[in-house]
Amino acid sequence: MTQDEAKKLAGEAALRELPSAGVIGLGTGSTTRFFIEALGRAVQAGGKYIGVPTSESSRALASSLGIPLLSDDGPWDIDVTVDGADEVDDALELIKGGGGAQTREKIINFASKRNVIIVDETKLSSRLGERWAVPIEVLHFAHAQTAKQLAAFGVVTTRMRDGAPRMTDSGNFLYDVATGPIASPRALDAALRNVPGVVETGLFCGRADVVLVAGANGVGRLLPNG
Ligand code: 5RP
Repeated sequence: MTQDEAKKLAGEAALRELPSAGVIGLGTGSTTRFFIEALGRAVQAGGKYIGVPTSESSRALASSLGIPLLSDDGPWDIDVTVDGADEVDDALELIKGGGGAQTREKIINFASKRNVIIVDETKLSSRLGERWAVPIEVLHFAHAQTAKQLAAFGVVTTRMRDGAPRMTDSGNFLYDVATGPIASPRALDAALRNVPGVVETGLFCGRADVVLVAGANGVGRLLPNG
């Protein structure tokens, strides 16, 4: 099974985690794309779902599929959010933000009654930071000064796209901080968010109600307490 096939399996399995109708948070990324496509098919078949997108790309996809969307302003009453992750540890703590959407993703995650995370099995690791750097959205103003402060936590790189800094949907910079294995994701998240200019980190601690992991043996369902 290719990684893409596993992502599709996870994305489609997430449909079974939804209520029969309701407000659904729409994550960002290539795995979530498969979920949004499946949700689009459910809406086209008469399903009463309304989406809240976590990025402009998810908004565009959902709109193109005819999924009705709520405004960005909130407040929302979100039943379930389905989103991807870059790294998942044994305690179901997450690194997210490979797609640069972690701020909107975190706001929508916190606004949801339930959060379903969908990954292929390559995303599992025993310790966060072993395989991924921590993505940080940094306020445009004084971003290089903020990046200098972030260097206390690891090796800092500017996220680039097409030879220019990659900006977030909110017009901010993205930095990736390679920390190495993280002893306490919660403590690191708190310390990073204490740096002036940090808008949000990609550390999601205690924010997954279930993780669907797809691989050659099908889809596993991981719960926070085992
Ligand atoms: C975007 C995210 C994504 O969910 C994460 O990067 C996983 O992406 P993919 O499903 O493409 O592997 O956090 O900000």
